[in-house]
Amino acid sequence: MPVAVKVTPKSIYVTRMIPQAGLDILIKTFGQVDVNPKDEVLAREELLTAVKGRDGVLCLLTDTIDAEVLDAAKGCKVFANFAVGYDNIDVPEATRRGIIVTNTPGVLTDATADLTWALLLSVARRIPEGDRFTRSGNFKGWGPLLLLGLDVAGKTLGIVGAGRIGTAVALRSSGFRMKVLYTDFDKNDGLERKLAAKRVPFEQLLRESDFISLHVPLSQETHHMIGQEQLRMMKPGAFLINTSRGPVVDEEALVRALKEKRIAGVALDVYENEPRLSPGLAELENVVLAPHLGSATVQTRTKMAVMAAENLIAAVTGKTPANIVNPEAMKRATRKTAS
Ligand code: GLV
Repeated sequence: MPVAVKVTPKSIYVTRMIPQAGLDILIKTFGQVDVNPKDEVLAREELLTAVKGRDGVLCLLTDTIDAEVLDAAKGCKVFANFAVGYDNIDVPEATRRGIIVTNTPGVLTDATADLTWALLLSVARRIPEGDRFTRSGNFKGWGPLLLLGLDVAGKTLGIVGAGRIGTAVALRSSGFRMKVLYTDFDKNDGLERKLAAKRVPFEQLLRESDFISLHVPLSQETHHMIGQEQLRMMKPGAFLINTSRGPVVDEEALVRALKEKRIAGVALDVYENEPRLSPGLAELENVVLAPHLGSATVQTRTKMAVMAAENLIAAVTGKTPANIVNPEAMKRATRKTAS
């Protein structure tokens, strides 16, 4: 006689609409999935309520997953972040509770590196300024002194954090014949071989680069790693590009440096108190501001949705997710079940 096995349906929550491909595989696996019906970030109370009684939550970088949320999600196996960065999640607290955290590395490297270059070129060649100028009817014809920017080719590019994205940004510089400097805990043999890139101390990179591009994860160590002192070390003609996380830069100090023209300009995709901008930032001309678009292409966001969903499914069905951030959580969960 066959033995009937009772399968308990799983309760899965997605904190905001993501590309359909990700939802489809969740639905195929679990039969049903609950999604925040509004295309906006859940308010704190809504998030606390929504995660209750879930087996898995697919969350976004705009959701703060701290100890209180993790407590509310008692019994939840996984928070699958739809992002490569996971500074929005208190990972040690999740690990302590045996909750798995996953991210979406790799699939957004090219999109983010492309956007970094789009910003770099935009700020150096004053494209958004030129766009505003043209739209407003001020363009009266070609002028020898009209909106002059600064050269990119042949200049020095400083990469802060030569991981996946930093490396992809550096590699894109070869068509511009740039000298590449980088800082990282580890030597990047690929960059040194392919571009003759030089690993240098952070201060040297600040003093010698014409374009400084930030690619570090946000942590206590990287919080405000660009502040007044570092901005003072930069060349007066240098540009700063940030597609990592806003709080890596002290935005107030940045606005001061820009106002005093201590650096040539800045291009930002991320903000210290996102989505709020520091007072004065939006009024400056030598600034390009994008609304956190690093991974925002149809193809990349689709891949992220699939990857986050697959991570979630693996965790909920007792397998090791491909992109687990805290493997220790699995051991804890096993210990808990055994005891
Ligand atoms: C985007 O900022 C990400 O971390 O994926």
